[in-house]
Amino acid sequence: MGPVGLCIVALVVISITHWFYGWRNPRCNGKLPPGSMGMPLLGETLQFFAPNSSSDIPPFIKKRMERFGPIFRTSLVGRPVIISTDPDLSYFVFQKEGKLFQSWYPDTFTEIFGRQNVGSLHGFMYKYLKNMVLNLFGPESLKKMLPEVEQEACRNLNRWSSQESVELKDATASLIFDLTAKKLISYDPEKSSENLRENFVAFIQGLISFPLNIPGTAYHKCMQGRKKAMKMLKSMLQERRAKPRKQQSDFFDFVLEELAKEDTILTEAIALDLMFVLLFASFETTSLAITMATKFLLEHPLVLKALTEENEAILRKRENPNSGLTWKEYKSMTFTFQFINETVRLTNIVPAIFRKALKEINYKGYTIPAGWAVMVCPPSIHLNPATYKDPLDFNPWRWERMEFNGASKHFMAFGGGMRFCVGTDFTKVQMAVFLHCLATKYRWRVIKGGNIVRTPGLQFPNGFHVQISEKNESKEEPKINSI
Ligand code: HEM
Ligand SMILES: *[C@@H]1O[C@H](CO)[C@@H](O)[C@H](O)[C@H]1NC(C)=O
Ligand SMILES: *[C@@H]1O[C@H](CO)[C@@H](O)[C@H](O)[C@H]1NC(C)=O
Ligand SMILES: *[C@@H]1O[C@H](CO)[C@@H](O)[C@H](O)[C@H]1NC(C)=O
Repeated sequence: MGPVGLCIVALVVISITHWFYGWRNPRCNGKLPPGSMGMPLLGETLQFFAPNSSSDIPPFIKKRMERFGPIFRTSLVGRPVIISTDPDLSYFVFQKEGKLFQSWYPDTFTEIFGRQNVGSLHGFMYKYLKNMVLNLFGPESLKKMLPEVEQEACRNLNRWSSQESVELKDATASLIFDLTAKKLISYDPEKSSENLRENFVAFIQGLISFPLNIPGTAYHKCMQGRKKAMKMLKSMLQERRAKPRKQQSDFFDFVLEELAKEDTILTEAIALDLMFVLLFASFETTSLAITMATKFLLEHPLVLKALTEENEAILRKRENPNSGLTWKEYKSMTFTFQFINETVRLTNIVPAIFRKALKEINYKGYTIPAGWAVMVCPPSIHLNPATYKDPLDFNPWRWERMEFNGASKHFMAFGGGMRFCVGTDFTKVQMAVFLHCLATKYRWRVIKGGNIVRTPGLQFPNGFHVQISEKNESKEEPKINSI
């Protein structure tokens, strides 16, 4: 190699080193939180998505908390990210939504969910759409919905109890999906030629996958699922437009009324994107929570006993035990709600909440540069031994002693601040009612599966197959001796 060749090699080595140094040490006006940016471009993406079967704080996070402290930096899917496991910073991030932070999800997510979904809508538009949703799932609507939720839960449980075994994750997903779709768009799976949920299943399976859109890949199937589902939603909306209903009662009615106004900023595309996000947000999350709840009950007989007692007492106090659950009875299920809180705390259905810093932010001595992503990590909050003693123990009674003053820094299963989950109350109704039917009428045992994997999203790789059977004891009414 001549001197020119050597020179070129040296230049290349220098520039690579320089670039690599820049990658490892991003520019910042203040003091960046500690951490490693991983490999160029890839960052620490692979480590972040590595599967693990524990329910503790994800090992990726835990290792870095031990090494760097509660706030650290990394790089995921090509973006520099500050990870917050600190309750104060996490709370701050939620409170400053729209001012210092803005919802941000990786580009593949935006592609998948549509460009105009709730996550990327801001200001007026966003508040206005949220009101429509709250209208459908607010306390007044839920009160009216209660008998229907109970009927559906009981009807499904009854059907499952005649089967050798049911895969609970899928079965509850179908139950929740049908109910939500009925409320939102009056969808009736029995009257429809195509199955809307099937398209969502294809969509979810490819949700967290490498974004390569060619036939055969999971990502391709995911996009196809979305496309088909969107097509179905679109034709349903058009059908409704052709045959408007006198009394508006679902989301399509709201949308059509709004679209008919002259000064509206709503478009059909936005409405359909929102529809899709809502359906997706509702059934995956709630079915995971119900499946985990059922599993926890099997693993903790004392908890099952307490839950059963509370719910049987409701039936005993009634004049007619076969009359439906009232709103007052629903509100009185104290232990059931403690159980639900404990279930969502340990289940950590949403393992990461992403935001983008709109400005440079200084917090606790660190600088978050403008444009960087911030990831709030609910598991690190919910499994913090300083707040929750023996955090990995399933103990619903701990909620008797918990004190929450206003908005909590220590419970963020449903997010916080302005973007707090609009489906929280809806989910609680579904869970409580399902548990009420299950605990008062049925017994269940594991057939197979039930093991979990987190990637870091929760999954049941082998499903959760259980056999559900009717309880006999309660049915055998004491015989009255007629003498
Ligand atoms: C166990 C069940 C559920 C869990 C754990 C859950 C969790 C969450 C979390 C953590 C957020 C905040 C996301 C963020 O800040 O970026 C959120 C937002 C949201 N959730 Fe849920 N959710 C559940 C059920 C539901 C249901 C049943 C619905 C629909 C009916 C729903 C609709 C939404 C919507 C529309 C948002 C976006 C709100 C906004 O950006 O302002 N969720 N959810
Ligand atoms: C999960 O993480 C722990 C702690 O880092 C590790 O010991 C274990 O091997 C990991 N893998 C699985 C499959 O659980
Ligand atoms: C469940 O958690 C929420 C949020 O922290 C809290 O406001 C509520 O009181 C808890 N419910 C029970 C029954 O402890
Ligand atoms: C419950 O009833 C069914 C049929 O009525 C019977 O086969 C089963 O053995 C009973 N189980 C118990 C625990 O009594």
